Amino acid sequence: MRKLKVLMVCLGNICRSPLAEGILRSKVDIDKVEVDSAGTGNYHVGGLPDERSINIAKERGLDITDQRARQFTAQDFEEYDYIFVMDKSNHQNVLKLAPSPEHEKKVELILNQLYPGEDREVPDPYTGGLDGFVDVYDMLDKSTDEFIKKLF
Ligand code: 4NP
Repeated sequence: MRKLKVLMVCLGNICRSPLAEGILRSKVDIDKVEVDSAGTGNYHVGGLPDERSINIAKERGLDITDQRARQFTAQDFEEYDYIFVMDKSNHQNVLKLAPSPEHEKKVELILNQLYPGEDREVPDPYTGGLDGFVDVYDMLDKSTDEFIKKLF
């Protein structure tokens, strides 16, 4: 059977979406669900996740150091079943690359899993302190739980 494919998207693919990828992957059967992440920007392509994301993940028992940043492409619309974006800016940038209105339906703000219809955003923690990364981790942990509940 074909695996369900889920893509997590933020701006740099070094802070939020690597955490989202690692957290969701840790909760699913990897023979059934494939999880990846990407950034709408290309500033960090090829780079490791931000040290602060690596450390908060490590504190919670996850190793995300196998991840390398890549840029989101229009091809991802063909490959993935679900494309979860962290904020409204990511949402707009991803939608610009959608091949058709049907493809656009794959894209959703990840916090709408937890707060349906509220269009809340996972804040960009890049320029802030460590607290921001802890908050982001907790939001992603809860949202991925909700996603899984609906899936299975
Ligand atoms: P992310 O955070 O989108 O959660 O990976 C950012 C990382 C880098 C930059 C912005 C946001 N940057 O401007 O380099």
